[in-house]
Parts: sequence; C-alpha cells; structure tokens
Amino acid sequence: MAALNTPVLNQTPQLRPLNILRDLPAVADLVETCFAATLDSDGRRYIQQMRKAGSDNVFLRWATTAVETVSMPLSGYVWEENGEIIGNVSLIPYRGRGKRIYLIANVAVRPDYRRRGIGRALTVAAMHHARQKRADEIWLHVRDDNPGAIALYLSLGFCERARRTTWQAIPDRGACLDGLGMAVEGRSLRDWGEQQDWLQQAYPEHLTWYQSMPWLSLRPGLLPSFYRLFLDFETRHWTVHEGERLLAALSWQAGTGHCDRLWLAAPPDGCGRAVTALLLHARRQLAWRQKLLLDYPADVHAASIEAAGFQAQRTLLWMQWNETSLPAIT
Ligand SMILES: CC(C)(COP(=O)(O)OP(=O)(O)OC[C@H]1O[C@@H](n2cnc3c(N)ncnc32)[C@H](O)[C@@H]1OP(=O)(O)O)[C@@H](O)C(=O)NCCC(=O)NCCS
Repeated sequence: MAALNTPVLNQTPQLRPLNILRDLPAVADLVETCFAATLDSDGRRYIQQMRKAGSDNVFLRWATTAVETVSMPLSGYVWEENGEIIGNVSLIPYRGRGKRIYLIANVAVRPDYRRRGIGRALTVAAMHHARQKRADEIWLHVRDDNPGAIALYLSLGFCERARRTTWQAIPDRGACLDGLGMAVEGRSLRDWGEQQDWLQQAYPEHLTWYQSMPWLSLRPGLLPSFYRLFLDFETRHWTVHEGERLLAALSWQAGTGHCDRLWLAAPPDGCGRAVTALLLHARRQLAWRQKLLLDYPADVHAASIEAAGFQAQRTLLWMQWNETSLPAIT
C-alpha cells in the first residue's frame, strides 16, 4: 500500500478514537439499538460480552495492551455529541496469507442522527487508521438486505468480493431421504482429490484470513487421524456417487460452542439431489448433536440446501477496499 498520509483524526470535534476503558457499555447500547432488527443469538451474546468486558478491569487492562494484535474489536472510533455516543465503528486486525488485514465492523449511527454524514465519517476514519497501521487489505461485510449501508461502502471504494449465505438446521432423527434415489456412503481416500478441489472453490483462499479451513480435520489419512485423536476433534465424512463418479461430499466437525460446522464439497452446477441427500443424512446421523451450520456461496445449490430443511440465517456481501487513495476525512 502507498505510504502513510493520514491527517490527525481528532481534529474533528465529535469524532474521536474509542476509549476502551470507558466507552464499551455505551457502544454496546448503541450497537444493540442499531442492529435490533437483525440480532440473532450470536449477536445478543456478542453484545452481552461487550457489556461484561466493559466492567471487567482485568480484561480492560489486558485489552489496552493487545489492541492491534488480537482479532477482537478493541479499537475504533466513536461520534460523540453532548456527551453521548451516537455513532461507532470498530476495527479488528487479522493476519492471513502473510498479510495484515483490517476488518471494519459495527458501523452504527443512532437512528435520529442518520443521513448527516456520520456513518461515512466513521468509516473513513477507520480506513485511515488501518492505513496508518500499514494494513495490506481493508475489508468489511454487510447483509445483502441493507442497501443503505451497501451504497455507503460502494461510494467509499469498497467492491464486492464474495456473497455467502449462512445456513442452519436442527438435527432430526426423522430426516428422510426416501424418493431422492441417492445412496449416502462413507468417504474413501480416492474421493479426496475432488473433494479438496470443490472445497477450495466453495471456501476461497481470499477469505481464509477470516475463516481458516481446518484441512487437517478434513483430509483422510493416518497423520490427520492422529491429529484429530490427539486434539479430540470429532469429524465424519459422507459421499454420494453415481457409479464410480463422486457427485458430492460432506464433512462434519464437532464444535466446542453452541453449533457444529458442515463443509460441503460439490461442483456448482452438479447434482442438487446429491447435496440434499448428504445434508438430510447429516441431520439424521447427528440427531444427538447441536445446531448445524453451513457457510456456502449464496445462490449455489440454495434450493437443494433448503430442500434438506436448512434455513438461510443471513447472506453477507464481503467487500474489499479497492482503491489506492483514501477518501478525505471531512
Ligand atoms: C448504515 C448506517 C451506519 C449509515 O449511517 P449514516 O450516518 O446515516 O450514513 P451517512 O449519512 O454517512 O450516509 C452516507 C451515504 O450512504 C448512503 N446511505 C446511508 N444510509 C442510506 C439509506 N438508508 N438509504 C440509502 N442510502 C443510504 C447514501 O449514499 C449516503 O449519502 P447521502 O445521504 O448524501 O445520500 C446507519 O444507517 C446505521 O446505523 N444503520 C444500522 C446499522 C447498520 O446497518 N450498519 C451497517 C452494518 S454493515
């Protein structure tokens, strides 16, 4: 990236850096208000954690030293008027592919202050901060049903790089594959080449800084089995074939939190019934487990995923800043 050329940010009276020691409770309130319409259980947990963190002195002392090194929203900017925080933007640093990456998150302006340029000013401040910290890439994500925010980010030079849907389903012992005409079986070593190729298409390299691929959990062989045994990672793999030809593969990885992850590998224009069969099979086989999550390119096999009883939780546009010169801070 070009050399640093950043004006002093706190020249604007209302715009100032987040003070992690003081601002977290007010920022949590603001984020809760601004995202009320789309908050799911993960979002509510996130806000609770922010509130808890704001009153935990040990955490706060540690956070002030860890701001630019851990992938947590410990830095950012707020917009303050009459002693009240009415706007926020967070910055989360990541490392990936040998690069330093910043994710801009929690862009939020109180409803009664919108369309006055505050969201824009906060986002621009975050971009300048990332540049100042020598970021190689600046990213953000936004829901596809948020045209206002998308217009804001496009006007600042962000470009869509991926559009992905998070699907979820409850395991179900009664999930039924009858009528699909597909037989689900285990995975063998010879399936791996194609499975790996399709996984690389579905989970592209340029997003692995955010969501790394658990290759050792996914690949077959003795070394990965030892690794999984040693780390107590539970995984299962299923496939559907037509004759000798692999149609699709699905891997399951037990999660430590409140959900388990599925990794779907299938050619984008491949057999939808194979995808449906695998997902139904997973729901049936994992009836004793918690919620199942599948992150997948939006619109690819969407009808087949839905036919297996999965519901779209959200679709996110992943946008990367794609210009060379930063917009000016106004
Ligand atoms: C998105 C959000 C932060 C924008 O804040 P804001 O202070 O109103 O934005 P700005 O006034 O800086 O808008 C800058 C430009 O973005 C676009 N824009 C912003 N909100 C828009 C809307 N609701 N509809 C259409 N365009 C919009 C416009 O191009 C606008 O310029 P204009 O007012 O000259 O037409 C605010 O609406 C918000 O807090 N929304 C809820 C939380 C959220 O969705 N955050 C984004 C998460 S990715």
